[in-house]
Amino acid sequence: MFSRDALGYDPIPLPDRCDISDADMLGAAQAFYEKMRQRHTVRDFSPRPVAREVIESSLRTAGTAPSGANHQPWHFAAISDPALKHRIREEAEEEERRFYAGGAGDEWIKALEPIGTNAVKEHLTIAPWLIVVFAQRWGQFEDGTRYKNYYVPESVNIATGFLIAALHHAGLSTLTHTPNPMRFLNDALDRPASEKPTMIIAVGHPSEDATVPAVAKLKKPLEEISSFF
Ligand SMILES: Cc1cc2nc3c(=O)[nH]c(=O)nc-3n(C[C@H](O)[C@H](O)[C@H](O)COP(=O)(O)O)c2cc1C
Repeated sequence: MFSRDALGYDPIPLPDRCDISDADMLGAAQAFYEKMRQRHTVRDFSPRPVAREVIESSLRTAGTAPSGANHQPWHFAAISDPALKHRIREEAEEEERRFYAGGAGDEWIKALEPIGTNAVKEHLTIAPWLIVVFAQRWGQFEDGTRYKNYYVPESVNIATGFLIAALHHAGLSTLTHTPNPMRFLNDALDRPASEKPTMIIAVGHPSEDATVPAVAKLKKPLEEISSFF
């Protein structure tokens, strides 16, 4: 997307200036918190379809995220094809079986106990969409030469947060799923070895009988997660 000769510094007036009163600001901040605290990781999905346009718009939101040197070192592979979802599930479950059979180590398995997860990953075939997030170590100029990306995990994780918030805002549920290791996703989705898959986000509507683990609702209070100076 970048061409080498279009990278000079060119300041333009700030677009989209936000003109909000102090009172409205507090209301807006609180309303957003109310919205975001209603996001719950869902593991039981309904097969109800979700329009591709909703996924596209949410990915556009992800693409607005800040990134090191604005290199936008991410790629999102969105999958609704049932055969491909089936393949991803088979390969993910193979990794998960190894993980739960001892690969993870006792401490990790213990930490997952209250979440109630196991090696069966039905959501990978039932959820109407899977979005696989890839982190790009390198980018390419239009002429095909490479450039290095900076702060890749930080940038990709911020974009992923934007994506999860956008999907939630659209009324959808998500599951951030991280089979370990995940390299099989490069082959399945035809992505180059220079890209690292960071997670699979299952997207859709919750099933009628969906539950969440009670511990997931225990969020640290503000005093614990922040300090003011
Ligand atoms: C990086 C990351 C990896 C995760 N991996 C998994 C996973 O592999 N399987 C799973 O069921 N949940 C996974 N989760 C979801 C967490 O278990 C969940 O976010 C947590 O229990 C809190 O619940 P909440 O998202 O509803 O607030 C992951 C979350 C994150 C941020």
